[in-house]
Amino acid sequence: MITKDKAPTAPEDDREAATAPASDHGHADHKTGTCVMNRREFLLTSSAATATFTVMVTLNPGSSEAKEVPAAVATYPRQLIGKLSELNAHDPLDFNYPDEGEYSDCFLVKLDREAGGGIGPDKNIVAFSYTCTHQGGPLQGTYKAEDAVLGPCPLHLSTYDMTRHGILVSGNAYQSLPQVLLELEGDDIYAVGVFGLIYGRYDNLQA
Ligand code: FES
Repeated sequence: MITKDKAPTAPEDDREAATAPASDHGHADHKTGTCVMNRREFLLTSSAATATFTVMVTLNPGSSEAKEVPAAVATYPRQLIGKLSELNAHDPLDFNYPDEGEYSDCFLVKLDREAGGGIGPDKNIVAFSYTCTHQGGPLQGTYKAEDAVLGPCPLHLSTYDMTRHGILVSGNAYQSLPQVLLELEGDDIYAVGVFGLIYGRYDNLQA
């Protein structure tokens, strides 16, 4: 049994149009070229990443001593990764998340346009994994400000759209780039979860 104790919420009026990938994270309007996943939907869709769950497991199943007990379930850390006032446009800030383990390299960047899942006054601050979802190619140094994309990957040229939740633009990958969920508290920017599976992991929290 799984009981959902807490899920992230967003203000009812926080329904700005945002961009979202067409295939696996949202609903793209191909006629207009825009996406229709707003911030609220993005956060709710991502709630599994940040919610706290109570999972009940049965000890001694089938015996007279069987009983249900709560299991310990890991949740994402809330990690301070930067300051809003110190971010410069198109200047990626590197950090590790959700731990210091393999494939935890991520970056925070302030784009020049609104982005799906973006935070800040202009909803243009986003964060992503640096590891290509295809075969783990390193994407450090491939950010292209003019197109708001990451790539091409040095191995097989996959390129990801930073404005639409890391959806694949071209190349051999078939999954979007994992997006780090962000929260802004005053001037502090926190990483609070990951939207998508990090390459090389069967569970984002298992390095
Ligand atoms: S590892 Fe990046 S495209 Fe293949």
